Amino acid sequence: MTVTSRGVSRRRLLQLAGAGAAVSALPLARPAIAQAKPVKVGVLLPYTGTYAPLGEAITRAMELYVKQKGGSLAGRQITFVKLDDESAPPKGPELTTKLVQGEKVDILTGTVHSGVALAMSKIAREEGIPTIIPNAGANDLTRTLCARNIFRTSFANGQVGLATGTAMAEAGIKRVVTCTWKYAAGVEFVEGFADNFKKAGGQVLKNIEVPFPNVEFQSALAEIASIKPDAVYAFYAGGGAVKFVKDYAAARLGASIPLWGPGFLTDGIESAVGKEGDGVKTVLHYADDVDNAENKAFRKAFQDAYKAAPDVYAVQGWDAMQLLEIGLTAAGGDAAKRDALNAAMSKASFNSPRGPFRLSAANNPVQNFYLRELKDGKNQLIRTTATAFSDPGTGCKLSA
Ligand code: BEZ
Repeated sequence: MTVTSRGVSRRRLLQLAGAGAAVSALPLARPAIAQAKPVKVGVLLPYTGTYAPLGEAITRAMELYVKQKGGSLAGRQITFVKLDDESAPPKGPELTTKLVQGEKVDILTGTVHSGVALAMSKIAREEGIPTIIPNAGANDLTRTLCARNIFRTSFANGQVGLATGTAMAEAGIKRVVTCTWKYAAGVEFVEGFADNFKKAGGQVLKNIEVPFPNVEFQSALAEIASIKPDAVYAFYAGGGAVKFVKDYAAARLGASIPLWGPGFLTDGIESAVGKEGDGVKTVLHYADDVDNAENKAFRKAFQDAYKAAPDVYAVQGWDAMQLLEIGLTAAGGDAAKRDALNAAMSKASFNSPRGPFRLSAANNPVQNFYLRELKDGKNQLIRTTATAFSDPGTGCKLSA
């Protein structure tokens, strides 16, 4: 079911929610209805704009996982209520309220964009609703703003940046120009990168920032050509990544100034960039050829269902449902038993297509990182650069 925003105000939604509560208080065969009720999962993701393919990949994987389980998790039928957040942070509060208060979802999932996720999670924390973030990496979500009901199946932006900084230093790169969209994710990918890269003796010559979701890269590319660093570290994703990688190739910079980045720069866009993406090196918590049974089964199931290859976003959506299944099972299928559900999810440990998966004390994945090189339309695995790598979780007050 797709629900689109009709611009309902938060106050009006609260009124509607109040009316809903009054209706459900009527003594109309309540226990039987409650038993049979499906678990409603709210899905806040981008279905339009530069991050639309990311939202689509996450949705497909979540739906496929549930479909493979016969439409139920822990014996409870699952229904999804989907909203398009357009990767627009100002839409976050209204749409989250619509899901939580208006639709009365039991579980919240979302989103892709760090700014929208920060807005969404504020309400999620206030409401105490179990929430699974299948992409957005805003550091604070599992650092200072961590909460018992907020979980990530993706990464913290800083965590990916730190892993990439180390890998680039290990490759002997000394002088780098960084290039990102200017919003929380881009800033944090660069900060994490610079921390480890500088500690290893590297130098960041210049940070070039482009407003999100702008894809005019010509002046950035001209600046890179004139600075002549050893390499460029760039964060773009979705449609913006396609444009950046193609523009970089068209500017003929790749041969003398290798292009690197967090893996979002090349994941899910392999066929869109084709040969123009050859040689781009990235570090990520997923690679297509992670060699485990879960990855093989997941890739086959996704390919069979959608006639398309899965990417890291699909993996994160898949694992969001694996995590939810663990939580719901511990709660006996009753999503209202939030303490049991949250406790089981925070202790969850399972085999993901990405490799072993567990959560840190801040509810952020502890996971492997892989160095990949885009070649012949595939992000080819070069080596595992870090195993069980955890974000520092700085400022999180939850204990293990
Ligand atoms: C973010 O906004 O957190 C984000 C978006 C796309 C890819 C990775 C991170």
